[in-house]
Amino acid sequence: MSEHTIALVTGANKGIGYEIAAGLGALGWSVGVGARDERRREAAVEKLRAGGADAFGVPLDVTDDASVTAAAALIEERAGRLDVLVNNAAITGGWTQEPTTADLAVVRTAVETNVIGVIRVTDAMLPLLRRSASPRIVNMSSSVGSLTRQSDPEASTGPLSMAYAPSKTFLNAVTVQYAKALRDSGILVNAGCPGFTATDLNGFRGVRTPEQGAAIAIQLATLPTDGPTGGFFEDAGVVPW
Ligand SMILES: NC(=O)c1ccc[n+]([C@@H]2O[C@H](COP(=O)([O-])OP(=O)(O)OC[C@H]3O[C@@H](n4cnc5c(N)ncnc54)[C@H](OP(=O)(O)O)[C@@H]3O)[C@@H](O)[C@H]2O)c1
Repeated sequence: MSEHTIALVTGANKGIGYEIAAGLGALGWSVGVGARDERRREAAVEKLRAGGADAFGVPLDVTDDASVTAAAALIEERAGRLDVLVNNAAITGGWTQEPTTADLAVVRTAVETNVIGVIRVTDAMLPLLRRSASPRIVNMSSSVGSLTRQSDPEASTGPLSMAYAPSKTFLNAVTVQYAKALRDSGILVNAGCPGFTATDLNGFRGVRTPEQGAAIAIQLATLPTDGPTGGFFEDAGVVPW
């Protein structure tokens, strides 16, 4: 088994996921760059290595059972265990998500990637996480999934969103269920919001840098043993459900 801390970041070829991988790599960790496109994955691995990180490519499409099973096998063969899983990969489904004229295909696709994908990857990686001395699961959520904020007419919560925002609410609920199931296992499971960050996801309209967006995931990936589980956090602290 590897002596280094081993992490896997899904959707790590660009945006916030790439910066999470870079941040964990800077800690001296060995970081699996989970990405579905070979060219984008290898480019990211090369860039991370050039920056001094111990990065390795993990072919991974979170919507595909065989891909996720193969990713778990690759990590098992390489490291024998997994210490930290960051479920970062997500899609918006596009930005016309009027509830009253919802495109059901868009809703299904967002849930398939942002929720079912997280469950698929988490369950595949759990046997490897159970072999870790300090296992952590970080689910990259969004404050647009906060029902408290969405139902506050004074809060700034983005456009109407019948697919993306509810998928993050669903992900938050899934995070709580994992925390409940794993409470006695030592595996800390939390959701993080990166803030409005300039990436492909929002046509680079975000106001934070991907590096700033990655900070909360790095914080939740490095929680001490007595750290929280089943919570939802942003840089400023707890996000209300
Ligand atoms: N940006 C923001 O303002 C913001 C705010 C709140 C929360 N978030 C959350 O932060 C996380 C990262 O978002 P981002 O802004 O960095 O988005 P991004 O730049 O669009 O990156 C998304 C990543 O997810 C990957 N991905 C999508 N579908 C996938 C699949 N089926 N299998 C594997 N990988 C897949 C993408 O890969 P490809 O390159 O192959 O498409 C890409 O690497 C997401 O969970 C997002 O919801 C972002």
